[in-house]
Order: sequence, then structure tokens, then C-alpha cells
Amino acid sequence: MMPSLKDARKRSSKQVLIKDHAYKLTDIQKQLGVNKKFFIKTYGCQMNEHDSENIKAILEDMSFEQTDDYMNADLILLNTCSIRENANNKVFGFLGRIKNLKEKKPNLIIGLCGCMVQEEVVINKILDKYKWLDLVFGTHNIHELPQVLEKTIKDKTLQIEVMSIEGDIIENVPVKRDSKYKAWINIMYGCDKFCTYCIVPYTRGKQRSRKPEYILNEVKELIKEGYQEVTLLGQNVNAYGKDLNINYGLENLLEDVAKTKIPRIRFVTSHPWDFTDNMIKIIAKYDNIMPHIHLPLQSGSSEILKKMGRRYTKEQYIDLFTKIKQAMPYSSITTDIIVGFPNETEEDFKETLDVVEKCKFDSAFTFIFSKREGTPAAKMEDKISIDEKNKRLQKLNTLVNKYSKLANDSYLNKVVPVLIEGYSEKNNQYLMGYTDTMKLVNVKGNVTDIGKIVNVKITDVKTWSMDGEVVE
Ligand code: SAH
Ligand code: SF4
Ligand code: F3S
Repeated sequence: MMPSLKDARKRSSKQVLIKDHAYKLTDIQKQLGVNKKFFIKTYGCQMNEHDSENIKAILEDMSFEQTDDYMNADLILLNTCSIRENANNKVFGFLGRIKNLKEKKPNLIIGLCGCMVQEEVVINKILDKYKWLDLVFGTHNIHELPQVLEKTIKDKTLQIEVMSIEGDIIENVPVKRDSKYKAWINIMYGCDKFCTYCIVPYTRGKQRSRKPEYILNEVKELIKEGYQEVTLLGQNVNAYGKDLNINYGLENLLEDVAKTKIPRIRFVTSHPWDFTDNMIKIIAKYDNIMPHIHLPLQSGSSEILKKMGRRYTKEQYIDLFTKIKQAMPYSSITTDIIVGFPNETEEDFKETLDVVEKCKFDSAFTFIFSKREGTPAAKMEDKISIDEKNKRLQKLNTLVNKYSKLANDSYLNKVVPVLIEGYSEKNNQYLMGYTDTMKLVNVKGNVTDIGKIVNVKITDVKTWSMDGEVVE
């Protein structure tokens, strides 16, 4: 099956089915990976990270063993992202580097999955220049990996299994989590917002919320296993439940998850469009719902926001921001910003800087607009040069960094709760973890602190991280 952009754009009224038994393995599939190793590289967002956790579990069900060294692998999988052009370029770059491995190891299987392969242009490019790949499977086909892989091994020909239209919700896919302390939980799949620049609604299909009982059961299982933190995942979690028609939204889900008493609850990503006062009330009410909100702004110009299809104005964004801060003065708010949307004027850009000045975000991911084929913005006229866009990005980053540092400064000498995740990657004399407000801290402490939420006194602050020490 090949992906079609035209089909991916459709939003069918077909009822989404919940399937508890769709993932199954034959005895042959369970043995396919005996004495074989797999390597997986993940690009993109948390959704992809979590998909990779599913893929790892499926491959282990098939008796494969994971390796961190692709030179040693019998199966190499790249779980790709297509949010911006350079995400795609990175994947093709990696493929270029591993092509010769295949010549040396004829039985090596190389596969692609994730958002990129949902793009028709990418599949055409694969059929044209990358026919030496062995398997390609889409974001809606993860549970079918055993069948596709079996076919690849048997037929020794390129297998492409990519559905354009989303499938049902598969509830029995296994998962092998990267962390023993914090877990991702999908609460919904897909996105119906169709922001004009964005490819996600095409690669991930229509919005499908998981039923609350499945999510709550997953949280309860995680508590039994000793997990300290869950992050509820969706492209637009504030719209959770709208497609279920049971009058149950994010505020209800957050409250029910809070009542399970799991120590920490996070949720990403919030779209301002669906953020209600009730949600703010619930987030403020429960101590185990973390006071951190990722609230993408995208642009500060109401004119550009309109062209982006974001459905809020600059003023409405600032109002919402202010309401959240009033309800939770201690909370941190982070954002995403795009510069250089087609024909963004200097004035438009100044509006963006103005919002940053007013909101003083704790941090921001900033991007230059990237044309994604098939999206409405890709067809918009654009007279702004890439040089100009780069200049704007730098100017924006300077301002964003100033406020990140300022926000961090206010933590100096304070004692804050940190979930210690393990050793710091940069310096293994230190442990690392995140505060309730999602600040990265390098911590002086004991091995016995790993996996616990401990009080940390902040002793030094930088733009991107802080240092601290465990206090009793
Ligand atoms: N669902 C999330 C966003 C997921 S993509 C939301 O709506 O907030 C993460 C970020 O990538 C977006 O917030 C946006 O800032 C950026 N992005 C998406 N498409 C882009 C494009 N075509 N060019 C540049 N940045 C883009
Ligand atoms: Fe993309 Fe907009 Fe959906 Fe976010 S809400 S995934 S930016 S279409
Ligand atoms: Fe990328 Fe797909 Fe996530 S395009 S950002 S991996 S939803």
C-alpha cells in the first residue's frame, strides 16, 4: 500500500474502532529475530519516541535484541520525522552513510518508518533512488510490523506498507519504556487543526482520542511498577475527547489521572484554541499536575496567525497567558515560534518580539518556516529572503535567551523538587533531573536518589540548565 496525499487530507466520518487483539504474532514470527540484533534511531517529537518504544517491544517479541551500534545490527530502522525539510535531509544523509554496509552484509535489513514515509514525495524518491531499502511502514501500520518483516525476510524485496487514511486504535501493542521512572502515554492520535504550514495532519491522520478507561488503566499499571511521572501525549491535548462524544475533555482526564495519586503529571502539546478556564482551574487545583505549560505561540502577528489558521489573535494569546499566570504565578510557560512565514513583514516580526517581551517565556523552540509539500502555506507567495529570515531568527533567539536566563535567575538559592533520572550525560559526577516546572538541573547527590523526587537547592543558573545539590 502506498500513501496518497489526497487521501491523507480526507477526514472521514467513519467510526474509529478500538481493537484489543489486532496485534498478534505467529510462532514463526516469534522466532524471526533469534540471534539477531536491531538498531533503531528516532527523529522528531515525543510521539515518535513513544512509537519507538512500541517498536522495540514488538521486535523483542520477535526475539530480536537491541544494539546501540548500527555496525553490529542485522536490522536498522529509522523512525523519521518530516516536520521541517532538514528533518528529512538528516534521514537521507544517514541512509547515504549506511548504504555501503548493505553491500558488505547482504542480509542486513534496512527500514524506514515514521512521518516521512507518509509523504508521497518521499515514497517516490525511495522508489527512484533508494530501491535498496528493504522495508517501509507507516505511522498507522506499527502493529503490522511482524507481518511486514516476515514478508521482507522471505521475499527479499522492498516491502512498502503505508496507509494514507488512519486506521483504528490498537490497544494491545506492547511497549518497552526507555525510563523506569517517567512514561509517555498517548491520549490521542492525529490532528484535525490543519495549521496551514504543518504536515502532521497528513502524516498522522484525523484526531482519535483513546477512551479514558484505557488511559487510566495504563496509569494505574505504571504506578504499580513504581513510575513517578506520566506525560500525556497528543498533538493538541486540549482537544482531547472531542471526537468521543461522551462529554469528557482534558479537564476531566487530568482530574481523574490526578486522583490516581501518581506523583507527577505532565501534558503536551497545548493549543491555545481549545484551552478552557476549567482546564486552568484543574491544573491549578491538583499538586500532582505539574505547573508547566507548553503553549505554542507560532507568531505574534494577528495577521500571520490568521494565515496560519491558528484561530486566535495576539491579544487572545496574551489574555490566555495572563489567565494561566494569574491562576498559577509559579508556573513556567514555554512556547514554539516560527519566523519567516510567507511574506511575514518586519512589522509582523516586531509583533512577535513584542509578545516575547510581554510574556517573557521560560524558554522557546524557534524555527524558520519550512515549506512542506501539500500544505496550503507551501503555495503562498513569499518575497522574504532566507538571509532576512536568518537575521530574524537570531534576533528572536537573543531575546528568548535573555528571558530564559532571567526566568532561571529567579531559582537561585531556592529549594525545588527534582525527579532524579540518572547520571548527567555531560559530567558523570553529577545526577540530572527536571524540576516540577521542567527546568533541567545537574545535581550533586547520591546514587540512591535516582528514581526519587528530592529537594534540591539551586546553587548556579545558566540559560539552559541549573546546578544544585540535594538537601534533606
Ligand atoms: N502540535 C503541536 C506542534 C507540533 S510540531 C502544536 O500545535 O503546538 C512542533 C513545532 O514545529 C510547531 O509548534 C511549530 O512551531 C513547528 N513547525 C511545524 N511545522 C513547521 C514548518 N512547516 N516550518 C517550521 N516550523 C514548523
Ligand atoms: Fe500541526 Fe497545528 Fe496540528 Fe500542531 S495543531 S500538529 S501545528 S496542524
Ligand atoms: Fe515529526 Fe511526525 Fe512528530 S512530523 S514532529 S515525528 S508527529
